[in-house]
Amino acid sequence: MKSKYKKLHELKDEMEKDDSLPLKKGANKLVFGSGNTEASILCIGEGPGRNEDEQGLPFVGQAGKLLDKLLLLAGLERKKVFITNIVHHRPPENRDPLPEEISAYGKYLDKIIEIIEPKIVITLGRFSMAKFLSDVFISGVHGKVFNLTVNNQQLTVIPMYHPAASLRNGKVLEAEKVDFVQLREILSKMKV
Ligand code: URA
Repeated sequence: MKSKYKKLHELKDEMEKDDSLPLKKGANKLVFGSGNTEASILCIGEGPGRNEDEQGLPFVGQAGKLLDKLLLLAGLERKKVFITNIVHHRPPENRDPLPEEISAYGKYLDKIIEIIEPKIVITLGRFSMAKFLSDVFISGVHGKVFNLTVNNQQLTVIPMYHPAASLRNGKVLEAEKVDFVQLREILSKMKV
């Protein structure tokens, strides 16, 4: 049987060749995702920024540095999780991804989730939250636990604020730190 690592590499190759991806033309590199391919925790952000677009890796700029610190509050080193995004090419001027873009990249994100088979999905920001939870506001549900069945997979989804939002707003940062400290307890109860 093929390893998850191999399957993810094949999927990345397929994505690299897919000229139909709507943000590909304006972007430098594909940001497929990185981390532990055997992880039971998958973090999903929004989309690559300038640094990620240059390096081809997710969360390598300021928001990424904060994400590393937040993960440590939950007792998680970055190398223990896998990190990807809702869209895998940088939107021009870092604008919000459009619904049709989210849906074009969504078929690959679904495959990433299928291959990794995470127990827990941590969504970072409202776009990745909206993939799993509809009709909610992030201000009302951040840090809460949602047990869902998605494409026949049992997933525990925990929506978190986007680290970039925390960099802009001290109150959001304080709330997010509390959420990640509580995440440590959630993980230990779940034996993750
Ligand atoms: N913000 C995101 O949502 N994703 C990244 O990869 C970097 C910043």
